[in-house]
Amino acid sequence: MLKDLFATKPVEPAPHVDAGEPVEGSTRGEASLQRVLTARHLVLLGVGAIIGAGIFVMTGTAAANYAGPAVILSFVLAGVACAFAGLCYAEFASMMPVSGSAYSYTYSTMGEVVAWFIGWNLVLEYMFAASTVAVGWSGYLNSFLSSFGAAVPVAFAQAPFAYSAESGSFVATGSLINLPAVLIVAAVSALCYRGITQSAWVNALIVAIKVAVIVMFLGFAAQFIDADNWVPFIPENEGGTRFGMEGVIRGAAVVFFAYIGFDAVSTAAGEAKNPQRDMPIGILGSLAICTLLYIAMAATLTGLLPYTELGTSKPIATALETYPSLQWLKTVVELGAIAGLSSVILVMLMGQPRIFYSMAQDGLMPRLFGRVHPKYRTPHLGTIIVGVVAATMAGFLPLDFLGDLVSMGTLLAFATVSAGVLILRFTRPDLPRPFRVPFAMVICPLGVIACLYLFWQPFADHWKVMLGWTVIGFLIYGFYGYRHSRLRLAARA
Ligand code: ALA
Repeated sequence: MLKDLFATKPVEPAPHVDAGEPVEGSTRGEASLQRVLTARHLVLLGVGAIIGAGIFVMTGTAAANYAGPAVILSFVLAGVACAFAGLCYAEFASMMPVSGSAYSYTYSTMGEVVAWFIGWNLVLEYMFAASTVAVGWSGYLNSFLSSFGAAVPVAFAQAPFAYSAESGSFVATGSLINLPAVLIVAAVSALCYRGITQSAWVNALIVAIKVAVIVMFLGFAAQFIDADNWVPFIPENEGGTRFGMEGVIRGAAVVFFAYIGFDAVSTAAGEAKNPQRDMPIGILGSLAICTLLYIAMAATLTGLLPYTELGTSKPIATALETYPSLQWLKTVVELGAIAGLSSVILVMLMGQPRIFYSMAQDGLMPRLFGRVHPKYRTPHLGTIIVGVVAATMAGFLPLDFLGDLVSMGTLLAFATVSAGVLILRFTRPDLPRPFRVPFAMVICPLGVIACLYLFWQPFADHWKVMLGWTVIGFLIYGFYGYRHSRLRLAARA
């Protein structure tokens, strides 16, 4: 039984693949994903997935409640943890250019049951993140529309329930549905259904808008930075994780959300023209660009306004409101945030069905997730199912408390991938590795430690939900995955 649970899927050296050559077939063999993405597409997909609610929404809370101006340091710390994990993803994605990302890598290194656990956690990262970001998108859209006196009526602008942290229970909001959140998920899902090329094209356009807006913000706001706002840089600890070095580290766990997404590039490995060369470029290139932008944005934001005033859901807009001559920039930033959040939803909704696709190939998810559209060459049925579930969650559930859970699921995946690289160096030293993590004996353990340490920060607040999620996952595995695993069926045949 234990041998069954921890059976690993053999890794074969990936043949060199080029445009048009499929690596994976669908479960019925009638169509496969299409290799059309270039290095530029992959970098843009990464930037599309990374820059979103984390920087536009959460930075203010992290500064006001935990780190003060040293939220800049929090961004550096979270960036370093991601750099370790990013190097490990780059090694795996170039060596195994498949769609399953951390799930597939874990299957080959730690066995089926751990792979299932990680795959289940990736649902937190991808599908839940898409819904959470869709709710943030709806908020920014409404704020933008209300500048023109055209806000969405309250009954259609939020979920019917909200979570009250004070009472620890759900309370009725009087609203019916968060309609903009449902519509954006539906629109993005339709795009993902239609094709990877179209999705990548729209993503590139959105990324151009959001990066241009960020560069404008940095350029125009720089002259208003008041260095006094950076003093004290690390405010004195007020107990627990409120400020001090403890707060900087807790802040790093909060802003980690902002970095999530570079790993989503690896879910497109099955559709990359030259994954061996381009995967590392896509993963590490997007991570490097976003890290630099984030550090610059955190420094500018905390320089514009005292950190105590940044704890709003729109910290950048809040900071700009203080300067009459920057009012015009506030509307531009809102537009950038709407664009930014759209591409995060897009890449997350592209990634999730591709992970399910890989799991279906292995028999751990129902076959319909492994079906590929004969014309559009996308995992179309998985895309529809993920879209419906994500839209329902975004429209009806209070998701504002989910940010930490998304980060925790992702951090577990990052830690496992970092460990996996090391394991495979020992178990399969012979495999050709187009990209190698430098100093793997140091970088991989550091990746595991850094990610688990950040995972631990919000654990005390959320362990019950995390445990519940894990139990549900194992029940599904027990009743479905374990019985249908192709690896096990093949071993028994
Ligand atoms: N990194 C993504 C965001 O900040 C998930 O929205």
